Amino acid sequence: MKWIIDTDPGIDDAAAIITFLAYRGEDVLGITTVHGNVGIEHTTKNALRLVELMGMDIPVYKGLTQPLLQPPATATAFHGSDGFGDAHLPDPTRTVACGHAVDFIIDQVHRHAGDICLLTLGPLSNIAVALAKDRSITREIREIYMMAGTCRGRGNTTAASEFNVYTDPEAAAIVFASGVPITVVPWETCVDTMFGPDVVEEIRKIETTVGRTFAKAMEFAVKKTLASTGREGVVLCDLLAACAAIDPSVVLESEKVLMRVETGGVYSRGFTMVDGRPNRGVQPNAVLCTGCDRSKIASMFLAALGHKTN
Ligand code: RIB
Ligand code: CA
Repeated sequence: MKWIIDTDPGIDDAAAIITFLAYRGEDVLGITTVHGNVGIEHTTKNALRLVELMGMDIPVYKGLTQPLLQPPATATAFHGSDGFGDAHLPDPTRTVACGHAVDFIIDQVHRHAGDICLLTLGPLSNIAVALAKDRSITREIREIYMMAGTCRGRGNTTAASEFNVYTDPEAAAIVFASGVPITVVPWETCVDTMFGPDVVEEIRKIETTVGRTFAKAMEFAVKKTLASTGREGVVLCDLLAACAAIDPSVVLESEKVLMRVETGGVYSRGFTMVDGRPNRGVQPNAVLCTGCDRSKIASMFLAALGHKTN
């Protein structure tokens, strides 16, 4: 199976990418960046930093600079103005690949038809445009593993909406309605699987360059989590989606449901509707992950942080 990671790094994206590359790096065709946590220039620079940090020759393609309809939103309050906790990490020496992320996705899906999955960690703008530009890829993408949306209507960006969907609801609606099978890790499951101070301390102890670099960026998010919730620890949402894609056994509880995205509404724009009602002739389009194995995910992540670049 081949993979493309679509991402808006982002501290939790960094955790996801480090882990996915440590376990599946040889199967990753490329990383595509998108607006999101911070602007596209920062998300692209951070993606280049991560492939360089992991010592892997994986191309990074720049994607959409803004959502389909609304102006871009950012999450600098949690990720810092540079998207990596304002840790002032050294600039990458790698450069972005030529060509647009959307064209790279379309081209690689055709080349690996039926044997390619996407791991999406940010707003779904690139994926939506790829689907709109060449509808035939809907039949060739095996599955999309994504961190997106909510399962009980408890949003993080608005009361009803999670950031990746909130920032581009039209794009999410296109992807959810495309017919491509999706496995969704929603916001509430990420909060339920929050790393406590014990895991944070384990991360801080790792002596590798990968571990020290991530820990430096993570501190910003740990401080913000304590300040905003009073809880010690950190929620690394995207890491759950990456681990579910690497080893589905980390998903302890899931259900097949129909998921749709609300694009109207004053309070509900960006809400992900979950219809799991039995015997209603509902055709599920998503595996919704409602419970994950925190200790297994922590072990996978700590092992990945121990990755030594030769
Ligand atoms: O709501 C959390 C999601 O939005 C994560 O993917 C985080 O990185 C941001 O993109
Ligand atoms: Ca993200």
